[in-house]
Amino acid sequence: MLVAGNWKMHKVPSEARVWLAELKRLLPPLDSEAAVLPAFPMLPVAKEVLSGTPIAYGAQDVSPHREGAYTGEVSARMLADLGCRYAIVGHSERRRYHGESDALVAEKAKRLLEEGITPILCVGEPLEVRERGEAVPYTLAQLLGSLKGVEPESPDRLVIAYEPVWAIGTGKNATPEDAEAMHQAIRQALAERYGEAFASRVRVLYGGSVNPKNFADLLSMPNVDGGLVGGASLELESFLALLRMAG
Ligand code: G3H
Repeated sequence: MLVAGNWKMHKVPSEARVWLAELKRLLPPLDSEAAVLPAFPMLPVAKEVLSGTPIAYGAQDVSPHREGAYTGEVSARMLADLGCRYAIVGHSERRRYHGESDALVAEKAKRLLEEGITPILCVGEPLEVRERGEAVPYTLAQLLGSLKGVEPESPDRLVIAYEPVWAIGTGKNATPEDAEAMHQAIRQALAERYGEAFASRVRVLYGGSVNPKNFADLLSMPNVDGGLVGGASLELESFLALLRMAG
């Protein structure tokens, strides 16, 4: 299991320092993995506070370029130097507000793998697609498009997050059964792409209005391997509650 908190554009470095120190102090022993994904300016703080602990950290995005004249961009090599284990690519907020295509997401995932960082690749359908009954083909097309040319050396080098767009920040989560059906379809597509043995070990997370009330039921599904959590990862109490549920 992996429980990853995507802070999105919340908190500032001084707040993060206090928050992460408290997380470190209060974290119970876990079999599952905890990860925190703050905005770029907080990564040096995460490195300072979390190095040597079991808590992983990572970024919310990365440049598709290796290096060069790309003002405002952050390279995978910079993230690796800061000790990031993970970085999100293809989050629906990047796809929607920054027009990111599957091809661009695949380039970003490749840059991360080159630097030994595990991409957390997000996919998921908007509401109108689900209402048309096309959620599975839409999401699988997005998945395979975003994995074009992406060749992780082992299954722990790839994490998929299924995040239905209509469930993000809305308080409406997918039912555990709907999430399971999609996760199964994703795993099947990964099996065709990378082989059964590989696909069975890739972690497929659910994201979208995860909270301490609904997480246990989602986690009880055989193909749900954890959560990518936005809002409920910002409060220490609820993040710790989610981590305890993952066990
Ligand atoms: O990356 C996290 C997701 O976008 C979920 O956000 O838990 O606030 O709905 P949320």
